[in-house]
Amino acid sequence: MAVRSPVINVMAAAALKAARGLIRDFGEVEQLQVSVKGPADFVSAADLKADRMLKAELGRARPGYGMLFEESGASEGSDRRHRWIVDPLDGTTNFLHGIAHFAISIALERDGEIVAGLVYEPTRDELYWAEKGGGAYLNDRRLRVSARRQLGEAVIGTGISARGLAEHPHYHATVASVMAATAGVRRFGAAALDLAYVAAGRLDGFWEFGLSPWDIAAGHLLVREAGGYVSDLSGGQAMMTNGDVLAANDHLHLPLAALIREAMRR
Ligand code: IPD
Ligand code: CA
Ligand code: CA
Repeated sequence: MAVRSPVINVMAAAALKAARGLIRDFGEVEQLQVSVKGPADFVSAADLKADRMLKAELGRARPGYGMLFEESGASEGSDRRHRWIVDPLDGTTNFLHGIAHFAISIALERDGEIVAGLVYEPTRDELYWAEKGGGAYLNDRRLRVSARRQLGEAVIGTGISARGLAEHPHYHATVASVMAATAGVRRFGAAALDLAYVAAGRLDGFWEFGLSPWDIAAGHLLVREAGGYVSDLSGGQAMMTNGDVLAANDHLHLPLAALIREAMRR
């Protein structure tokens, strides 16, 4: 049985509370889909509401911690060692279109290093969590990345940055070459969940350019604690600053990195 530490319990309680609001609002979106105005304003309100709720819950449980939230920005705390990094709704475009694939992502940074991460997928009631050195879990089940060794058998996730293709002129080339070398490419639309799926062995790998720290912070710890390897596209560890991520099991990380880098040179 997986034993959750107090900090994971704090993160899980905040995520479950915010998720109740998101689930209610997701139901509304399906109604609004058919209205002329569409659900866009409603969805940004739902996003902000989740952001506020998570901020309040985490702030109450750990007063003084710094915060980096996608919607409400950064604030320094009296405790300079700790910082929450939160995406209250990852997969906004899915949510807006009534596609049930979105998540809440919460990470805790201590002295500049991510030490706890949690990704919650409300519609499937799937709680992914990990603490540095303690393994990764889906609800109470220990996670392992996939064991596939052949690129030809691998299913790889990717994403197109919200910042647009212009910034990433090599994107099409990388997709074409990964598609040609693997069993398939998936673009699900929620980067935190893509990383969680790598941790769970559903996806054999994942890459994306131009992500933000709140997309990566929790998910990359999940992959690591599930025995996978995460780097930026040049093999370094600057994912949180340059936003480029490549995650896979140990066997596939190198060949996938080589494939993507080769495609980027073309
Ligand atoms: C986005 C999703 C998407 C990824 C984008 C992100 P948001 O986050 O994770 O999968 O491709 O780069 O910005 O805007 O839904 O929180
Ligand atoms: Ca996001
Ligand atoms: Ca978001």
